[in-house]
Amino acid sequence: QGDIFTYDPGFTSTAACESNITFIDGEEGVLLHRGYPIQQLAQQSHFLEVCYLLLYGELPSAEQLEDFENRVTNHTMIHEQMKNFFSGFRRDAHPMAIMTGVVGAMSAFYHDSTDIHDPWQREVASIRLIAKMPTIAAMAFKYSMGQPFVYPLNELDYASNFLRMCFSVPAEEYHVDPILARAMDRIFTLHADHEQNASTSTVRLASSSGANPFACIAAGIACLWGPAHGGANQACLEMLREIGTVDRIPEFIARAKDKNDPFRLMGFGHRVYKNHDPRATVMKESADEVLELMGIENNPTLQVAKELEKQALEDPYFTEKKLFPNVDFYSGIILDAMGFPTSMFTPIFALSRTVGWVAQWKEMLTDDHMKIGRPRQLYTGAGARDYIEVENR
Ligand code: SDX
Repeated sequence: QGDIFTYDPGFTSTAACESNITFIDGEEGVLLHRGYPIQQLAQQSHFLEVCYLLLYGELPSAEQLEDFENRVTNHTMIHEQMKNFFSGFRRDAHPMAIMTGVVGAMSAFYHDSTDIHDPWQREVASIRLIAKMPTIAAMAFKYSMGQPFVYPLNELDYASNFLRMCFSVPAEEYHVDPILARAMDRIFTLHADHEQNASTSTVRLASSSGANPFACIAAGIACLWGPAHGGANQACLEMLREIGTVDRIPEFIARAKDKNDPFRLMGFGHRVYKNHDPRATVMKESADEVLELMGIENNPTLQVAKELEKQALEDPYFTEKKLFPNVDFYSGIILDAMGFPTSMFTPIFALSRTVGWVAQWKEMLTDDHMKIGRPRQLYTGAGARDYIEVENR
């Protein structure tokens, strides 16, 4: 049945779409961006350099990187009138609801970068989305707390700018700790792109109709919000908190194995990885670094996470089904230690994944064979039959 259910994002064949951006080997736990292993990029590169690699296919020279970083930096503010969109939301609106709405609204503001057939407009739309997503995410966070928006500061790097926009207040400047900024940048890199996951496929399918690029990215944000996908980092930390103490772990493992219980271990399993998610390994190292810096290496949530991972990986149910911790298992612990509420975890995932959505959007639009996506189906409904008048039913 593979051919019938294979998603076709607009290409004429029934095979899966073609891309030269990201390669995953789920059996071997391999993730490459333009051929470079994610472990090396996360440990030796930084997010904006990885953005350049994903967008243009090669690692930049020093001059190319400086030019790219300047272009992103000079687009970090949003149109001042767009601030009005935030006040239309209730204060308790989920930041993902706000991001979906505000990013979709960008389609009504930035008319000079919506013509998908103009390479220059595609480039400007790409830079605007990567540059403005941290600002929008931080504004959604500030709005939910009733605090004033904090404008970006061009002298700061991408991750430091985001942290400052989230945690600075007029009464007290937030000084970004370089280790936290490095951990934040690494989280961005680890979430940057991941082949044809649900939200990227959503962006591709929406874009294949020629729709406004900002509206297509808003569709990707909406899809990512789901707890089976990008919402898992929020659901995972809430699960770890619900478990609370190490002695309650067996109770939750039993529930995850019970076919009659819809409960699943959040942060475990993956549609593709049937081995360790390479991102989780790097994320776990970052979690140790950040919590040690914060002096909370004995964080009860981290203790529960490590013991849960140990017990699950010793349990045949999980090892035989190849259910290993994924990228979402440790990211929430780091973000929680930084001071983010769980409601901000998925917006940070969306902020990071914007470059992956944009890179794949650009790749698809530059393919001469692109057609509107039309996923196939296997019809299992009633056969042809005649209408029956209501009195005869
Ligand atoms: C992301 O696609 C991507 O690339 C996504 C992503 C990205 O970067 O874009 O990597 C980000 O979405 C990571 C996944 C985050 N989601 C979660 O952590 C939520 C918890 N995980 C599950 O909901 C689940 O593992 C999925 C949704 C991720 C995958 O679901 P599948 O495809 O059904 O998993 P599977 O086919 O491998 O399941 C095999 C078996 C099934 O049981 P049986 O029907 O064989 O009896 O394992 C069971 C599943 O019920 N199972 C779990 C489980 N995940 C799968 N049982 C308990 N706990 C779990 N977490």
